[in-house]
Amino acid sequence: DTKKVAVIVGSLRKESFNRKVANEFIRLAPKSLELEIVEIKDLPFFSEDIENDPPQVWIDFKTKIAAADAILFVSPEYNRTIPGVLKNAMEIGARPPKQNSWKGKPGAVATVSPGLIGGLGANQTIREAAVSLNIPMMQQPEAYIGQIKDKLLEDGVTVNEKTEKFLKDFLEVFEKWVMQITK
Ligand code: FNR
Repeated sequence: DTKKVAVIVGSLRKESFNRKVANEFIRLAPKSLELEIVEIKDLPFFSEDIENDPPQVWIDFKTKIAAADAILFVSPEYNRTIPGVLKNAMEIGARPPKQNSWKGKPGAVATVSPGLIGGLGANQTIREAAVSLNIPMMQQPEAYIGQIKDKLLEDGVTVNEKTEKFLKDFLEVFEKWVMQITK
């Protein structure tokens, strides 16, 4: 039985390393997990003033999240925390009260950076927010994918063999986590 995984990419950049890694997750996913990026770039800023009569793009976003069985965050770290666009998407998905689209969906996070620390701060921040979003997060393995430029092959989109193994192993545990939580 196949589970749908909504992949949320925390960068809007065209050449985003995080998007590239998200696409590698898609390529390497086991058959039982159907990964798809749910775009966040067109979501207007969240405000409580409009949440009861929300713009159509909010509704569409919430519908896609609600239709997913699981969530995979792939995000950069900005100033030791998460990009505002990602936090905005979290708020929109979680509101209004009693209409939390994230609720109970198994989740996981990978952070990607050209730097050494691999987005540790963002990784932790996503886990922190997941408590309130009510996303049960896979604890292990942790995925801090640092020095990403050295992990991509010359084509600039495919990860090297060692990283591919790491992503596959991560997905294998995530698959078990998703099946366990959704059964
Ligand atoms: C960064 N970058 C960054 N990197 C990091 O490892 N820790 C950090 O705290 C920050 N802070 C930060 C703030 C802002 C505003 C920008 C624009 C960038 C660098 C960041 O990791 C790099 O630009 C990545 O390439 C961003 O991810 P994408 O867009 O490639 O997915």
